[in-house]
Amino acid sequence: MKLSHESIEVNAGLMIVLTLIAISIGGLVEIVPLYYIQDTIEKVDGVRPYTPLEQRGRDIYIREGCYTCHSQMIRPFRDEHMRYGHYSLAAESKYDHPFQWGSKRTGPDLARVGRKYSNAWHTQHLANPRSVVPESIMPNYPWLLEHELDYSDIADRMRALKVVGVPYSDTEEEYLANVDEFGPAMAELLDIHRAEESLLAQAQSEDWDGDRTRLTEMDALVAYLQVLGTMVDFSKYDEGYFAEFR
Ligand code: HEC
Repeated sequence: MKLSHESIEVNAGLMIVLTLIAISIGGLVEIVPLYYIQDTIEKVDGVRPYTPLEQRGRDIYIREGCYTCHSQMIRPFRDEHMRYGHYSLAAESKYDHPFQWGSKRTGPDLARVGRKYSNAWHTQHLANPRSVVPESIMPNYPWLLEHELDYSDIADRMRALKVVGVPYSDTEEEYLANVDEFGPAMAELLDIHRAEESLLAQAQSEDWDGDRTRLTEMDALVAYLQVLGTMVDFSKYDEGYFAEFR
């Protein structure tokens, strides 16, 4: 046995051929099953595209580089589950372009931060993190409260996302499909032709940044943070291994 292995190791050509065969088998075992699973991303109730206001908030999240310190993916480990909640499902980021899973956590994971704090807490924390968490090393983002929210291109942004598969509706037919899938109220918010009205209506629906008379970037970012991880009702699913920690 030892001898024959040595004969492979000293013969580069044979080594390459055998390596390729070994890698191909490994690749096939991983890739082939994906073609036989009906839907590689399982369908999960509740997951929907972001509303225009949330989507603008998400753009600001990306612009400000929040992802350099925050991940949005809870791994299926006991400690993560206890700290952040149910592990992230693939379906939860299926409308995220680009996804925000991240690779580094200088701050905590944000995948389920929605409704963990009040709007007022988020506004104050983003403007000056140390005013609510004295030991925080997160930067201040005071300009979010000063900048008016620019939503003039929101319809174009939704059209661009539609190209990559997010079901914002452009035609009556698509709108009706969304009514079936997400309900009438949500279908309105996902309609490209009503994008600006929807954005303004949602901005007025809650006191996001503490001042209803102005529409700021803070309004959009807080609306986005408050929806993270809230779309799926895990009390319906969470019966397995982790149920004891609920
Ligand atoms: C330099 C790294 C860094 C950047 C950049 C950063 N954060 Fe943080 N963030 C932290 C740290 C550290 C904490 C934990 C301390 C605290 O709560 O302030 C935190 C906490 C938070 C929390 C509270 C999470 C929880 O569960 O308690 C939220 C929400 C948050 N950040 C949002 C943001 C947003 C939105 C941005 C971009 C505008 C951002 N962060 C940018 C480091 C960062």
